Amino acid sequence: MDLLRITGDTPLTGTVTAGGSKNAALPIMAASILATEPVLIERVPEVVDVTTLSAVLAQLGVEVKRQDDGALRIETVDSSPTRADYELVRRMRASFCVLGPLLARRRRAVVSLPGGCNLGDRPVDLHLAGLAALGAKLRIDRGYVIAEADELRGADISLLGPHGATVTGTANVMSAATLARGTTIIRGAAREPEIVDLADFLNTLGARIVGAGEATIEIVGVEHLNGGTHRVIPDRIEAATLLIAGAITGGNVHVKNARLEHLGGVLDVLDRAGAELSVSANSVSILMQNRPRPIQVTTCPYPGVPTDVQPQLTALATIAEGRSEIVEGVFPDRFMHVPELKRLGARIERAGHAAVVDGLRRLVGAELMASDLRGGAALVLAALAAEGVSLVRRIYHVDRGHEQIERKLARLGAQIERCRDQQPAKVGSS
Ligand code: EPZ
Repeated sequence: MDLLRITGDTPLTGTVTAGGSKNAALPIMAASILATEPVLIERVPEVVDVTTLSAVLAQLGVEVKRQDDGALRIETVDSSPTRADYELVRRMRASFCVLGPLLARRRRAVVSLPGGCNLGDRPVDLHLAGLAALGAKLRIDRGYVIAEADELRGADISLLGPHGATVTGTANVMSAATLARGTTIIRGAAREPEIVDLADFLNTLGARIVGAGEATIEIVGVEHLNGGTHRVIPDRIEAATLLIAGAITGGNVHVKNARLEHLGGVLDVLDRAGAELSVSANSVSILMQNRPRPIQVTTCPYPGVPTDVQPQLTALATIAEGRSEIVEGVFPDRFMHVPELKRLGARIERAGHAAVVDGLRRLVGAELMASDLRGGAALVLAALAAEGVSLVRRIYHVDRGHEQIERKLARLGAQIERCRDQQPAKVGSS
């Protein structure tokens, strides 16, 4: 296992480029099952979750190859397998996105239930209800969802759950509906840019989807989907994380490949925190001259502040000049990073689904352990701001969704290196 050794308290400066969106790429890769011809997907990040989904697809007779130009070429070479095993699905919940495409294309899907995860209880009831409304017969047997349908039929479906819309649930049902007979209306659909990107991809293959990005999506079913080429949108969560890295270190960072229209909620928070932002359509610069002002944040579905940036903003709040309140509105228990931030000296109290953070002038380096992807990124950011050396263990969580995080941060002047965990570096002030 790798860890990151970080010597903090250096303002980051310079230019860095965000990669392609992991959360757009994964459902697009899964939806490639629907195509009758090869598809090419450009700008898919080289992250562990993409490797995991490639293994799931291989199990389903779908070949995923990275070409010399970096694009992924995806082709179904055997359309008989229909089973995605627990061993792979448990590693990454997004594997569940193969359910809808498999069912629509092969009429049968046997996909392991993903189970809980470090963000808390994460049900898939809305995915299943949506597919059932399309006419699928579903049952659960020994931890697997078994879905069958000779034919899917268009339906009027609501996918709204107790915490708002479901992103991968919308992806699953929208993908399946492309091959249903007749018209499907999805109400309460997720409006995230990743859903728009999936719809754009499917439409490139010949699907007829309108309204993606709105709460109501209409899909007119077609007989089959062809091949095609698609370029994944830039990763708005990675861009936000890099901007917060600039803010938390009192630096001056220019992030390229950051789409302004996807970052509104986060930029508002950074602006209120006192950052000087300059924006263009495809890049954002951040300059932070003083300690951040305290922030009040409530995460919610798009276009609000994303839950995937909550841990990083909590890290920023630890050095703010006063008391911040961070309310988690999507995954109420997503606070695994809090005890680890406290190891750096941060003053944070949990209050139900919120964290109350009393900012300090200085965090002090310590040994830390990542327990999920964004929480791990938050620890890396806090370590960059902390005085002295920190070790962030179990960095594989961060590798699931960040392409070369230490290289990108090092390019901005961060003192950060990847080490094997057997030889832990000495911790202390440097
Ligand atoms: C997606 O997960 C993302 N994953 C997550 O990113 C992200 O945190 C999340 O959306 C919210 O934005 C991918 O895109 C691959 P949801 P997803 O279904 O689709 C409840 C990261 O770090 N719900 O939108 O699984 C659920 O419990 C990851 O990159 C139901 O009640 O999340 C939650 O409270 C982690 N029933 C809310 O909806 C369901 O059937 C939103 O979850 C499904 C969800």
